[in-house]
Amino acid sequence: MSRMEDMENEEEHHRLKHEEALEIKSLRRIIGAYLNYPEASEEDIIRYERSFRRLPPTHKALLSDYPLKFQRLRRSIATNSYFIFNMLQAFEPPIDISKDIDMIEDPHPEDSSKELFSEGKIAYLGEPTSRRMMCCSEFDQHGCDGGNNNQCRSPAIPHTNEEADIEGNCPSNTGRHLSSLKHTEEKDKCGGSAMADSNGNVSSSQQEWLDPSIQSNVPLVDVDKVRCIIRNIVRDWAAEGQKERDQCYKPILEELDALFPNRSKERPPACLVPGAGLGRLALEISCLGFISQGNEFSYYMMICSSFILNHTQTVGEWTIYPWIHSNCNSLSDSDQLRPVSIPDIHPASAGITDGFSMCGGDFVEVYSDPSQVGAWDTVVTCFFIDTAHNIVEYIEIISKVLKDGGVWINLGPLLYHFADMYGQEDDMSIELSLEDVKRVALHYGFELEKERTIETTYTTNPRSMMQNRYFAAFWTMRKKPASAQQEAMKIDP
Ligand SMILES: C[S@@+](CC[C@H](N)C(=O)[O-])C[C@H]1O[C@@H](n2cnc3c(N)ncnc32)[C@H](O)[C@@H]1O
Repeated sequence: MSRMEDMENEEEHHRLKHEEALEIKSLRRIIGAYLNYPEASEEDIIRYERSFRRLPPTHKALLSDYPLKFQRLRRSIATNSYFIFNMLQAFEPPIDISKDIDMIEDPHPEDSSKELFSEGKIAYLGEPTSRRMMCCSEFDQHGCDGGNNNQCRSPAIPHTNEEADIEGNCPSNTGRHLSSLKHTEEKDKCGGSAMADSNGNVSSSQQEWLDPSIQSNVPLVDVDKVRCIIRNIVRDWAAEGQKERDQCYKPILEELDALFPNRSKERPPACLVPGAGLGRLALEISCLGFISQGNEFSYYMMICSSFILNHTQTVGEWTIYPWIHSNCNSLSDSDQLRPVSIPDIHPASAGITDGFSMCGGDFVEVYSDPSQVGAWDTVVTCFFIDTAHNIVEYIEIISKVLKDGGVWINLGPLLYHFADMYGQEDDMSIELSLEDVKRVALHYGFELEKERTIETTYTTNPRSMMQNRYFAAFWTMRKKPASAQQEAMKIDP
């Protein structure tokens, strides 16, 4: 081997090590945020109690039930923590995150704040032709072959305005420390059998990385992400989210059903769902008779969707209290403190079509791969296209991955996620109007077949006094065959 090759190998080795270190850091940070949930929530209650104590006696006397509410809040937090802890227990990190990474020099420490998959490290959750999903031990029992196939890519800073925009986003503290999830009723359950899997096996590696000592301070932004996930669970996996799913997912499912009327069971059409969130839409599409692949780049989302898809055993197995983190706009305390059962369906018995998978990674990086050209009969985007730094690039990729004659169904607003990243000069954000989005799509060979506006909410508490509504664009576009595109170019250069 020449000296030059030696140097190149060493450089490559260094690069991979560095990426691994970043991956470990970001995963630890996300797990830290989940583990921190009880303590961060407790801090909020302490704040409420502090305010209550400052009331004059006459006012206190009027609110004699208020301390009772704090106790109910504490119990609800314990229940949420129990769910989160079980979810983390089931998570199989695609990388050994207990590894010592202090030795690895990090020239870009800020990168570790990114919550996502770095190159070649994360689980690729199944090929379109298999039934694999991440951590799919439960699905193994139903014929799912487990296994990871490294595929996914570089990080991006997820900044979801839909999530950030949620009502009642009251400010809370920063720089919180990890909680050991102790001293709660529910934790007592965790401390016992819940530390083991359903067969009673305890995984030492899981316990190792759940050790709070590998965690660090958890910033406010991460605390909020965990709360957003809890609300997203309602959207995707609770009966209470049905109305929102009917607004967003039903029109898409009806459109798919109408566009592929004679779909074959032997060779089902293939549907890609970028930005799949917690996976319900991708699952529904699978149940409709498509080979469905969700793509998602947030570990926060993937850890949770994997748990629900692969590890839930029965309908209503878990209880969560999704609305407790906002005291604003409640009609009553019992509205705020109402429990929600999840999941509303048992995913493993929902009737999925073979080939259902979730692929972790950045849409741009994963689906720019040449192997993806013309691979999909349909692409479905729901509340996704405005997550782009460059929406033109998203549209270009959607066009490329579709077969000639394939369809793109979209539903969502244009609340560009990087629009408000003031002061971050590196963060590109192309913010087109709907008119321009459609013009760009025409350029990439799409023909608009259907278009309408759909009024909907996004992770909204249906009993809140504040309901943010979107007038979302809904369309079906068909990719013209290459010959038709060339013909059009001749007429309209
Ligand atoms: C607003 S949420 C919508 C989720 C889901 N489609 C729904 O309707 O509930 C957007 C999702 O896209 C994901 N996302 C954003 N940018 C992405 C990218 N470049 N690649 C893959 N997923 C991305 C986010 O993590 C988030 O889960």
